Amino acid sequence: MSTIAENTAFRSHSSAARQSVPAADRKIPAENGGKTEKAEQAPILRIQNLTVGLRGADSSHLVTDHVSIDVGAGEILGIVGESGCGKTVTNLAVMDLLPQSLYVSSGSILFRGKDLLQMSTKERQQIYGNDISMIYQEPLTSLNPLQKIGRQVGESLRLHERNISKEEIAVRVRRSLEEVGLPDIDRIMDAYPHQLSGGQRQRVMIAMATVCRPDLMIADEPTTALDVTVQAQVLRLLHHISRRHGMSVIFISHDLAVIRQICDRVVVMYAGQAVESAPVEELLCTPEHPYTKALLRSIPLPSSKGADLPVIPGHVPAVNEKRDPCPFAPRCPVASALCREKAPAPVLLSEGHEVLCHMAGRGKEAADD
Ligand SMILES: Nc1ncnc2c1ncn2[C@@H]1O[C@H](COP(=O)(O)OP(=O)(O)OP(=O)(O)O)[C@@H](O)[C@H]1O
Ligand code: SF4
Ligand SMILES: [Mg+2]
Repeated sequence: MSTIAENTAFRSHSSAARQSVPAADRKIPAENGGKTEKAEQAPILRIQNLTVGLRGADSSHLVTDHVSIDVGAGEILGIVGESGCGKTVTNLAVMDLLPQSLYVSSGSILFRGKDLLQMSTKERQQIYGNDISMIYQEPLTSLNPLQKIGRQVGESLRLHERNISKEEIAVRVRRSLEEVGLPDIDRIMDAYPHQLSGGQRQRVMIAMATVCRPDLMIADEPTTALDVTVQAQVLRLLHHISRRHGMSVIFISHDLAVIRQICDRVVVMYAGQAVESAPVEELLCTPEHPYTKALLRSIPLPSSKGADLPVIPGHVPAVNEKRDPCPFAPRCPVASALCREKAPAPVLLSEGHEVLCHMAGRGKEAADD
């Protein structure tokens, strides 16, 4: 049975890459020839050395540990990793939505070159919902059950565009709902969230998140709760809106096959660290970090039907658990004494491909095949 690596004629250096995600999960065809021109410009968002701690806990207990992530203008960036790796916390920090028990202990989050963490509350309020928006996995928990859809979708416009008329709001809400492909707009605008299907609610969330035409949308596992057909439609829709408006997207998922369908680049997170980042095809075909390789191996393939799926032994360390300098060491098949003595520094393998591992770029020495 063919694999992505075989079907895309990419050269692979490891069996993990050769076992990549199923060929059926092809990338959604690019509009206008792929990345927008904006994708080549300076990053719209720069998360630099972001460290999030747990209030009242030892300062060595880090929820995220010096995470650095760039998002290009018009780019769709995937963030992938097992449960508890810090994907959501990183993005909640961007949105200034960290729960009370967590705090940013160091780092910066530059949006269009300005640090969100240093801005006044008023400045930040101008940005959230307007220039940066977020959608969540389960729309029912994010929508107000007592408010009609039309009213909720128009809320950001009322908040951010002071002199906007009722008529203009109605026009733009309608346009946004049409853009996300909802049928019978009059009925939808007049409906309450519980009167819509899961897929329709997620489309409403996307309409809400894009009605102000943000520069950046963060989508935290937006399709996990949907069935496969609706998931494919929502992915296609996100990709279309991003390309059409040059909107950057951070797309969080457990699923590398889903990431491959819509993302330009991907960041792999493990235990609160960004351990590998690369253009998506490069990461799938030539993964370098042992964790990325293990993640790729644990993707089910049609050819492995009936066989036991390789799992990554062990677990992601809890925030308060003692860690080795490289937190992946207890699960890593190529860990050495060095990994338990000294934290690895980032290694730039090629333009845009960075890896946090002592063995990165050391060829055969690091091979785990
Ligand atoms: N409010 C909180 N208080 C204490 N610890 C928290 C809190 N929220 C998250 N954490 C911890 O922070 C770590 C990262 O959590 P996060 O929600 O970012 O993971 P995730 O990668 O998004 O996982 P998932 O894929 O399950 O959504 C986890 O160890 C989690 O237990
Ligand atoms: S630094 Fe060492 S333990 Fe960590 S991933 Fe690399 S080889 Fe494995
Ligand atoms: Mg999460």
